[in-house]
Amino acid sequence: MSGKRYTIRMVELKDIPVVMDINRKCLPENYTESFFIQHYKKFPKAFLVAEVDGKVVGYIMCRVEHGFSNFKFALTKKGHVISIAVLPEYRRIGIGYNLMIKGMEALKEYGATEVYLEVRVSNYPAIHLYEKLNYTIVNRIHGYYADGEDAYVMARQL
Ligand code: ACO
Ligand code: ZN
Repeated sequence: MSGKRYTIRMVELKDIPVVMDINRKCLPENYTESFFIQHYKKFPKAFLVAEVDGKVVGYIMCRVEHGFSNFKFALTKKGHVISIAVLPEYRRIGIGYNLMIKGMEALKEYGATEVYLEVRVSNYPAIHLYEKLNYTIVNRIHGYYADGEDAYVMARQL
C-alpha cells in the first residue's frame, strides 16, 4: 500500500454513508446519520475525508466547543476530534497523520486555541499517532466507554 497516493478534501453530503461505513468497520463508537450531518453542516472545514483512486478510505470529524482549557484556568474555544478512522488496507501511509494536521488547521480557523480528544487506553496505534503530533495525556476517565474501558483525554495547544 505504500505506493498509494491519497488526497484530502472536505466531506460532502454524498460521502456520509461511506463515512458511516468506515466508522462501523473501524470503531465500536458509532453515531447516527443525523450526528454526522450536524457536524458536516456546522463545522464543514473540520470534517475531512481521504480518497484513494476516487474511493473514500478515511475521515476525521471535529467540532468546536466552549469550555475549560486543559492548559490554563480559563474558558476557551476548544477543538474536539470526535472521530478519526482509516480503513485497514490504507493504514501506515500517513493518511491519519495528515487528516489530523488538516483537521487541526481547520479548528484553528474556527478560532480554537487548543484541541483535545478521547482515546481508549488500549488503543496503542492511535495514542502513538497523537503523541507524534505532540498531544499529551491530560486526564484519564474511568469507565468512559460502553464496555467499561477507560479513556485517556489527550490534548495540545494550537
Ligand atoms: N502502531 C504504532 N504506531 C502507529 C500505528 C501502529 N499500528 N499506526 C499508526 N501509528 C502512529 C505512528 O507513529 C505513525 O507514524 P510512523 O508510521 O511514521 O511510525 C503515525 O501514527 C502516523 O500513522 P498514519 O499512517 O498517518 O496513521 P494511519 O493512517 O494508519 O491511521 C489510525 C491511524 C487513524 C489510528 C488508524 O490506525 C485507525 O483507523 N485505527 C482504528 C480507528 C481508531 O482507533 N481511531 C482512533 C480512535 S480515537 C478518536 O477517534 C478520537
Ligand atoms: Zn480505570
